[in-house]
Amino acid sequence: MSVTILGIESSCDDTSAAVIRDRVMLSNVIASQAVHEAFGGVVPELASRAHQQNIIPVVSEAIRRAGIDKKEIDALAFTRGPGLMGSLLVGTSFAKGFATALGIPLIDVNHLQAHVMAHFIKVDADDNAQPSCPFLCLLVSGGNSQIIKVKSYKEMEVLGQTIDDAAGEAFDKCAKVMGLGYPGGPVIDRLAKEGDPKAFSFNKPHIAGYDYSFSGLKTSFLYLLRDELKKNPDFISERKNDLCASLQATIVEILMDKLRKAVKDTGIREVAVAGGVSANSAVRQAFEDHAARYGWRVHLPRFSFTTDNAAMVAVTGYYKYLDKDFCSLDLPPFARVEL
Ligand code: KG4
Repeated sequence: MSVTILGIESSCDDTSAAVIRDRVMLSNVIASQAVHEAFGGVVPELASRAHQQNIIPVVSEAIRRAGIDKKEIDALAFTRGPGLMGSLLVGTSFAKGFATALGIPLIDVNHLQAHVMAHFIKVDADDNAQPSCPFLCLLVSGGNSQIIKVKSYKEMEVLGQTIDDAAGEAFDKCAKVMGLGYPGGPVIDRLAKEGDPKAFSFNKPHIAGYDYSFSGLKTSFLYLLRDELKKNPDFISERKNDLCASLQATIVEILMDKLRKAVKDTGIREVAVAGGVSANSAVRQAFEDHAARYGWRVHLPRFSFTTDNAAMVAVTGYYKYLDKDFCSLDLPPFARVEL
């Protein structure tokens, strides 16, 4: 018997709903909130208001595009956290109301786990590109940079994580000081294509184990700009491409140095990448290079599954459904929660 799951994601600034049937995606609708661009970052109060406006049309559209009747939904999976509390409350409250109205089970999903599980979404019935367990997953987003050992969908061990800024934050904060807008990651990626990755060198952290740190890089980047702008006020506009390429290359080097160490120590050469920063072209190229050079079997997510989306929530919900791992209606969302 097939299982149909409606997924809802509202942890930050994307309102998303998706329908999957037996891991095959039938729809994945994402409403991104442009309102934050003018502020250079996500404004929590505006995010929750926009979720309120978007949630009903987005869910209706996901069901319509899936070509199903809502009575065919077997369970509703929603993001419980981590994320912005006001944003999570919208998705959580909607999910509880909708599941109650339909008389179906409710499944809470950890947002970080869902990013990893994005690799198990099938875009059609013949899509068999999923990683096999155990595998390592580099989870890199605006809020996280982690190396995770995935033993099964419910057994994930964090081997290392950032002790300060996340990789996405490093992209976004450095982009902000160059006046490139928000989110800065995609802009840096684009500008870096025309730049020299060896033009400038920045501090790389020296931290034991598999943990990351990006705050020193950010400071090193700021000091370079401060010193060079004193000599030439047009430094940023004249060297924008080289700055972006060098910064991006340093972030990718930091990420891959630790990941290589984790692969070597664990002996696991099945390696995936997930989260918003996995859309970065240099990150993806580094994975391809490591596959060719070290024999890694690499898994790069489709671009539509790199940033926040409900298909990854729905597929995680699918596995929990098979285990009958349901939650109660009094479950609160969590702004902070570990994997
Ligand atoms: O996973 P995500 O959508 O949100 C969470 O943090 O949960 O990740 C957003 C992050 C932002 O920091 C954004 O700048 C970064 O992903 N990002 C990129 C690229 N596309 C998105 N960073 C570098 N290169 C990209 N192409």
